Amino acid sequence: MRISYDEGRRIFLIRTENTGYAMGVTALGYLKHLHWGGPVAGPADFLLQSDSYLEKNIVGIDGSGDPDQDIKKAEKRNFFQRLDEEYSGWGGYFYGDPGMKVTFADGCRGLLLIYHGHEITEDADSCLLRILMKDNVYNFYVELFYRVYPGLDIIDRWVRAANETGQDVTLESVMSAMWHFPRGDDYRLTHMHGKWSGEFQLSQVKLTQSAVTLETKTGISGHHSCPWFALDWQSNATEEEGALYAGTLHWSGSWRITAQRDYLERVRVTGGVHDFDFAWPLAPGEEFTSPVFSGVFTQQGFGGASRQFHNYMKRHVLPPYSLEKEPAIMYSSWNLYTFNIDEKQEKEIVPHAAAMGMELHHVDDGWFSTRDNDYQGLGDWRINKKKFPDGLKPLIDCAKANGMEFGIWVEPEMVSPDTQLFKERPDWIIHFPGKQMSTGRNQYVLNFAMKEVQDWAIGWITDLLENNEIDFFKWDMNRYISEPGWAAEAAARQKTIWTLYVRGVYRVFAAIKERFPRVYVQNCASGGGRIDMGLMRYCDTVTLTDCGNPWDRIKILWGYTQLFAPFTSGTSWASRMWGDPALPRGLSIWENDPRKVGEADKAKIRKMYNDYAKVRHIIHKGDLYRLASPYKDEYVAYEFVLPDQSEALVHVAGLKPTYQRYLPFLRLRGLDPGAIYEMNGHPPMSGSGLASLGLDVTFEKELDSYLIHLRKKQGCSIC
Ligand code: DGJ
Repeated sequence: MRISYDEGRRIFLIRTENTGYAMGVTALGYLKHLHWGGPVAGPADFLLQSDSYLEKNIVGIDGSGDPDQDIKKAEKRNFFQRLDEEYSGWGGYFYGDPGMKVTFADGCRGLLLIYHGHEITEDADSCLLRILMKDNVYNFYVELFYRVYPGLDIIDRWVRAANETGQDVTLESVMSAMWHFPRGDDYRLTHMHGKWSGEFQLSQVKLTQSAVTLETKTGISGHHSCPWFALDWQSNATEEEGALYAGTLHWSGSWRITAQRDYLERVRVTGGVHDFDFAWPLAPGEEFTSPVFSGVFTQQGFGGASRQFHNYMKRHVLPPYSLEKEPAIMYSSWNLYTFNIDEKQEKEIVPHAAAMGMELHHVDDGWFSTRDNDYQGLGDWRINKKKFPDGLKPLIDCAKANGMEFGIWVEPEMVSPDTQLFKERPDWIIHFPGKQMSTGRNQYVLNFAMKEVQDWAIGWITDLLENNEIDFFKWDMNRYISEPGWAAEAAARQKTIWTLYVRGVYRVFAAIKERFPRVYVQNCASGGGRIDMGLMRYCDTVTLTDCGNPWDRIKILWGYTQLFAPFTSGTSWASRMWGDPALPRGLSIWENDPRKVGEADKAKIRKMYNDYAKVRHIIHKGDLYRLASPYKDEYVAYEFVLPDQSEALVHVAGLKPTYQRYLPFLRLRGLDPGAIYEMNGHPPMSGSGLASLGLDVTFEKELDSYLIHLRKKQGCSIC
C-alpha cells in the first residue's frame, strides 16, 4: 500500500495490495482520472496516456493568432477538458452525472474545480491522500479524500466542501465519489434489491448508453435496494474469476448510486447521499463532509470482492466486540408470542430454551408501557408493571441462572399516538404543520436531527442498560420517513433534516457503543431494512430478515454475503413464520414454544446447536468461499477457511426434494495445498486434492444437508 505523487509528470499513483489507481493534473489544472484496475509499475505508464490524442488536444493550448484555429481549439478544449474529470463540479460543457452542484450567493451555478495542492499522510493503519480543489473563480474549496489500507484493495473515498466565499452557498448535490472505469461497451451491473422478508435479492442488467440509478428515498438505506453495486466490463466475471469492480456507500439514509455509460463508451458510477429533496445552506466558514464510498477492484470475481469487503469490515469497520464474541444462539419471544409476553411465561421458557442449547434469552417487543399491540406505547420507555411486576431483574436473574445471556428490544426513533411523549413533545415529531401526518405501522418518527431528541434517547437507553444486566440490545426501526418538515428550523434549512437525522442516529448509536462496548448491539429495521456499512460501525450484528422460511433465507444470505461478513447475520432465530405451512422434516429447527418440545426432540436440537457451536469460530474468523449458488443450482454450498488454514467448514444443503442426487465434486478453495485434512464423513485428503479433485457429496434423501469440518493433520504433509 502506497500513495505517491510524481512532481514532474504531476501524476498521483495509489497502490493497494494488488491494484493501481492513477490521476493526473493537466497543464490547466484539471484533475483527470487515468486508471483504476490492475497494478501499474509507476507513473511512466501514463506517458502514453498524456501523449494520446485527447491529451494533445487539451494540454497547453495557447492562442495561435489565427482566430478560426483558436475557436476550433477552444471548442475542443471545452469538450475534452471535462472528460474523465476525477470529480466534476456541475457546469460548463459537462453533461454527465456530476460530483457536486452548488448555487453561489449571486445565483451563479457553475462549479469548475482546479487543482490547488495535496497532502499525503500515513499511519500504522492506512495511507491517506487529500487533494485540494478550488473553484476557478470563487473561494469555494473541495477536498477529495482517498484512504487505502495494508493488505486490502479497498479504496475509501469521500469529499469535503468548504465555503470561504464570505457569502452563503447552497449545496444542491454532494456525491461522495465519482468512480471511472476503463472504456467499454459490454458492462454488466449487479445490484441488490428486496422487500420486507425478502431482502438482498441479486439482479443483473447490461449497461446501455444510458444511466441506471439505484436508490432509496425513504430516509433509511432500505429493504428495496442495498447501497452496493458491482460492475464487470465483459459481463463475464464468475464467482471466483474475472475482473470486477464493486462499491458500497457508508450511509443509512436516502442514497443514490448512478451508473452511466456515455456515447464515448466511458463508464462512470456516481454516488452519495441522495440529492432528491436535498439543499444544504453553507454559511461562510462552514464545511460539509460526505459519507464514505468504498470501492474495490479484483481479478477474483464476486467471491474476491466479497472477501475484500469482509476483511475490510473486520479490520476497519465493525466494533471490536463483534470480532471478540461469537454470535449467540438466540431464543426470541417475537415469532412465538409477539406482544403477548410476561415475566411468568418467559421465566418458564428459559430452562427449556437452555436445555435445547440456546444461549441468549431475548425479550422482543411488548415489555414496556401500553405496548400490547403495534398501535401503542412507543416513546414511553418504562417497564410494563402488569407484565413485569418487579421489573426485568427476576427474568434476567433466571436467564443468568440457566447460563443464558439476556437481550432486550427497543425502537428509539418512534412514537405512538397514545403516549405521554406524543402529547408532550409534538415539536419532536417529523411532520409538515397543517398537513396530514402519515403513519407507518401506526407510528410517527421522532426528529433525530434534533440534539435534544438524541440526548433524550441517550438518556433513557443509558438508564436501561445501566440498571439491568443486559447483554444484547436490539435497536429496531419500523417505518420510513414522510412529510419531512422541521418547523423549528428556517425554511431554507429544513431539507437538511434527511442528513442530520442519520447523523443523529449515528451519534446515539456511537454514544451507546462507547458507554457499553460489551453490550452486543443488533441493528434491525423491520428485518434487514437499514443494513449498510454506515451502521455497521456501531453494531455487532443485524437482523438479516424476519423471514423464517429456510429456502428464502438461503437466498437472502447469499446476497447479504456479497458485501457483509457472514457472521454479522448470526444472531437470529430459526423458527416457523406465522402462517407458513409446516416445514419439511429436518428444515425447521424448532417451530414451537420450547416448553412444548418433547425430550427426544430437545436432545436432537441440542445436538444440532452443539455441533454448530463447535465450528462457529470458523464462520466467525474464517474467509468465505461460495461454492454453489442457490440462483443456479438445486443446492447451495459454502466453505469457510480460517486465515491460518488450520480448519475449514463446508456446508452443503439441497434445496429441492430429490432422491440420490450425485453432486458435481465440490472443489474447495483457500486450503493449504501441501497439508492433509481430516474430515467427518470423508477419508482424509490433501488441500491440493480437495482443490483439484474436489469433495464427493451425495444427497441420499430429500433435502439432505451436510456440515463437513476439515482439520489440518498436524505434522503431516503430502511430500
Ligand atoms: C420488526 C422486527 O423486524 C421484528 O424482528 C420484531 O422485532 C418486530 N419489529 C417487533 O415489533
